[in-house]
Parts: sequence; structure tokens; C-alpha cells
Amino acid sequence: MSEPISRWTAVETIGRGVRAAPALRTGFALTLWLALVGAGGRVVIPVLVQQAIDRGFTESGVKVGIITVMAIVAVVLVSVATWAQRTAVLRLGRRSEEALYSLRVRLFEHIHRLSIADHSEERKGALVARVTSDVETLAQFFQWGGLAWLLDGTLMLLVASVMLAYDWVLAVVAFVVAAPLGIVLQKVQSHLVRAYDLSRSRNANVMTQISEVVAGAETIRAYDAGEHFADRVKVASRERSDSFIRAGTIGAFLFPSGEVFSVFTVSAVVGVGVLRGPGSGLTAGALIGFVFLTYRFLEPIAEFTEVLEQTQTAVAGMRRVLGVLEIPIGPPEPELPLPLPAGALGVSIDRVDFSYRTRGDTDEPPVLVGVSAHIAAGQQVAVVGETGSGKTTLGRLIARLADPTAGTVSIGGVSLTRVANADLRARVTVVPQEPFLFEGSIAANLSFARPKLSLAELESSIDALDLRDWLDTLPDGIETEVGQRGGQLSAGERQLVALIRASLVDPAVLLLDEATSSVDALTEVRLARALEKLAKGRTTIAIAHRLSTAARADRVLVLDHGRLVEDGTHVALVDAGGVYARMYESWVASTSSAGAAAEGA
Ligand SMILES: Nc1ncnc2c1ncn2[C@@H]1O[C@H](COP(=O)(O)OP(=O)(O)OP(=O)(O)O)[C@@H](O)[C@H]1O
Ligand SMILES: [Mg+2]
Repeated sequence: MSEPISRWTAVETIGRGVRAAPALRTGFALTLWLALVGAGGRVVIPVLVQQAIDRGFTESGVKVGIITVMAIVAVVLVSVATWAQRTAVLRLGRRSEEALYSLRVRLFEHIHRLSIADHSEERKGALVARVTSDVETLAQFFQWGGLAWLLDGTLMLLVASVMLAYDWVLAVVAFVVAAPLGIVLQKVQSHLVRAYDLSRSRNANVMTQISEVVAGAETIRAYDAGEHFADRVKVASRERSDSFIRAGTIGAFLFPSGEVFSVFTVSAVVGVGVLRGPGSGLTAGALIGFVFLTYRFLEPIAEFTEVLEQTQTAVAGMRRVLGVLEIPIGPPEPELPLPLPAGALGVSIDRVDFSYRTRGDTDEPPVLVGVSAHIAAGQQVAVVGETGSGKTTLGRLIARLADPTAGTVSIGGVSLTRVANADLRARVTVVPQEPFLFEGSIAANLSFARPKLSLAELESSIDALDLRDWLDTLPDGIETEVGQRGGQLSAGERQLVALIRASLVDPAVLLLDEATSSVDALTEVRLARALEKLAKGRTTIAIAHRLSTAARADRVLVLDHGRLVEDGTHVALVDAGGVYARMYESWVASTSSAGAAAEGA
């Protein structure tokens, strides 16, 4: 599967983003109106100044009444506008938080459901990490860039329309002179951003160099290499200060340039206005009001250039986030599910091929080739084979964590593609090679499989598997804490817990993928005992790394490079002298030599 990076344009991405997070759209029209009213508050003053000059300062004297009324109007309008702006900001903040929340939930659910045929756990982990940082970028955008778009955008729009309404010639003059400002500021801004990125990474480099010198002091002294490492630190420090000076220089240029451009623009407006004279219909008040408006129009430009950078980053983040949501998820739920018969269920594997699609849809080496086996209801089967022969993969297909590339797997005579997911989870239980335990007690790790059971019932399920002696060795019995990922228990004990957990579900088909890591002798006996109890009355498929498990099974399936090469009882296969016989021989040799070594120690 290729990287989920799409080639959608910015507009397309934003459109899809809004569709993926509908909270962004809810009530947006009202938010926009409120922002416009808020922007109105900032246009009121220039307009009132114009009115006050043209109507209040007449040749017949100052009209105090008119000016007082205008002052009151200004106070009221500005108050309303401030309230509207505050409400718009709050609404945008709330909606964007809701949108990000639902996006996060959807992303993690989606990643969780991705087919294991396409995505290993590590890759899912990497996806989660990347998506987390992308969503963080979006959150930052909404906290600042989104706000700027809303407030500055509406302000510029409104100011521009009022300018055009006052005097379109002057408005055009202002826009034409101001346009280069935007372009230059944008260029300088992106230089500045890059310069600061470089400075930050060089700063980190200096820190790394210094901490290495400190940590490696002994080695450095042993080789009398002090000078060599001092030079390294000096070079890194020099590079660091150079880049900071450069960033500072760009910043220093950026700082006054907005001011310079405002002066140019306003001078042009005033110049053209004066040249055209009163004959053009332009009053003194309108010209002064216009100057105010021009300043208002220029104010947000500098901020906008920064926002543009941030917007590009946010759109790229959104594109990746949407790309993840586009990755197809695991095996689909059947449209017309068939019910499974009650009681023990047989398992049929019929000419199954399988390839993982992790690196692309084609040309993947097949992991399973033409595997066929019919396992009767209630049979105890062991699957053995070298590491990488495809045992775990076969188990995954039986639990329908992925669908075969060719062929079918059915349980109880029903193809897995026709079994409802909930049915499947209730009837087929997997005890994985590395079972996952959550931080908490053993009881807590058991009870989430059947939340209604009491502690006493949980304990009796442990008794039922003949594991009381194990429970008694634990410091706090069933309340013993397992630690993060079950780290306080041994790998074998984690499998014991997983077996007990599986027994609570009472599945018709039990799939046990034995731990690869070595298990101490006592735990091995306990695992075997528990499995024997658990196997009664159900179909059991044990992927066996310890061939003692295979020796106890009714039937052994031998996988070799993805092919089923032998199928029979333990005794028959040992007699046949094939792959299994050789595996068994070397297993017996290794365990007896390990035993001898342990005795010798
Ligand atoms: N999620 C995955 N994505 C891609 N390739 C995988 C994935 N899981 C396993 N493989 C590959 O498929 C092949 C069979 O792996 P599988 O885990 O089924 O072997 P196994 O018989 O269970 O081995 P082991 O005895 O080590 O547990 C291996 O080549 C492995 O690298
Ligand atoms: Mg395996």
C-alpha cells in the first residue's frame, strides 16, 4: 500500500476536510455574519470622522449637537461590534474543537480497523504518530490562522468595499500601491520562517554535540581527542550563531518594511486626492476618512503573509489526514450474513493463497500457497513449521483478520466472508503469540472479556483450567498487578492470562499461537494443562513452537515456506521420516541438551 498522500489541490482538500468534519460547517454562516458586524465596528470610526468633518465643521461654525450624536452612535456601534466579534471568535473556537475531536476519533478508529494484510502493527504505530502531529498542526491553525482568516479577511473585505464606495479612483490607487507590499512581505516572511527553522535545528545540533562530549568524556580523554571534539563544538556553535544572525537580519528588514509601505500608500492616496481637488466631488472629510481606511486596510497584510505560511502547512496536514481516512479498512462485513450452527465448529481451509500487501498491491511474495485442510469439529490440531513459514498468517486467516488472496476459509460450513463480524468474534478466539495485557490487575485483564463476572467467578474460571497452583504463587493472587504491557509477568504467564481470558468467551474454535520465547518448565506444564482443559469440546488449533504440544495433538499440520507439506498424527509423521521427523529430532536434542546444561549449572 502506497503512502496515503493525495494530489488534491488546496481548495479540494479544504472542501473534503469540511465534509470529513461537518462541525466546521454547522452555523458557519452566522459566525461569518458576526465577524462582518465585528469588522463593521472598525470601519465605523473612519466613516464617522468623515461625517463629523463634513457636517460638523461647516463654514457657519461647529455643530456640537451633530458631533455629540455621532460620538454616542460611535460608542453604541463599537460596543455591538465588539460583542459580535467576541461571539464569532468563541463560535469558531468551539466548532473547530468539535471538528478536531471527531476527526481524531475517526482517525484512530480507522487506523485501528486497517487490515493486517496491509499494515503491520509498527506501521499503524507510525501512522498514529504522524496523524497525531498533523492534527496538532490543524489545531494550531485554528487557534491562530483560522481566526486571522475570519477576522482579518472580513475586515479587509469590508474596508475595501467602503473604500470603493467612497471613491473608486483612490481605492484603486491604494490597492495598486499596496499590492507589492503583500508580495514582498510574503517573500521575506517565508525566508524568515526557513531561517528560523534552520536556526532551531542548528541549535539542537549544538546541544547534541555538547551532551555527547560530556557523556563521552572518558573516551575522549582516553584517546586524548579533546581538541578534535572542541573543534566540532566550535564549528557547530559558529554555524548556529551565523544562522541566528541571518534570521535576525531578515527580521530587522521585515519589521519596518510594513511601515514604509504604509507611508508610500497613504502618500499616494493623499497626493492623488489633493491633485484631483474639491472639483472631483471629494470632500476634506472623505479624504481624511479615506486615509484612516487605508491604514485599516494595510494593518492585516503583514499578519496575512504569516498566516499564508501557516495555512499551507495546515492544508498539507489536512491532506495527509484525509489520505489516512481513504485507506481501505479490513475485511468487510457481509451484506447478507449467514448464521453459524450451534456447538463445536469444524474449520475448512480450501486451496488458500495469501500475500501481504504491505509494500504495494502487486508482486508480493506469497506467504501461503495452496493450503488445504479440513479440521473436524472438536479436533485438536497442531500447526508446526520453521520461523516465517506462515503459521501465524494461517491463524490470522482463520480468525478473518484478513481474507485469503485466493481460496476460502469456512467454519461450521459457512464461508468466513458470510459470517457477521460479531458472530465470528464470539465463536472464534485467538490467543496471540504476544498477548497484550493492559496495565492493571490480572482480574481487570480477565474481566473486560466478560464484564459481568464477579471476582469469585473469575477465580473459578482459573480453577477450571487447573491453574490454582499458579495463582497461589502470585503475591496478590488475582489482584496481582501485571505492570505496563504485562511486563511484571513472564511471557508464558502472559499466555496463561490470555488463555483464561479466552476461556471466558467459551469459543467454539480456539486458536493458540504459542509464545516463541522460551518458557520455563513449570509454566510450560501449566500451559499444557490449561490447554488440555480448554480444548475439551471445542476445535483447537495450536501453533506449536514446543513440539511437546504437537506430540499431544490429534493431528499435526506441517507448513514449509507457505505450503502444507505434511498432515498426520505425531506418531505417523515421526515414522514417515520427513520434515516433521527432522524437526522433532532436533527439538528433542535441543531440549535434552538444554536440560543437561541446566543440570550442569
Ligand atoms: N503484517 C505483515 N506484513 C507483511 N509481511 C508479514 C506480516 N506478517 C508476517 N509477514 C511475513 O510473512 C511471512 C510468514 O510470517 P508468519 O508470521 O506467518 O510466520 P510464522 O510461521 O508465524 O513465524 P514464527 O515462527 O516466527 O512465528 C514472513 O516472511 C513474514 O515476514
Ligand atoms: Mg508466528
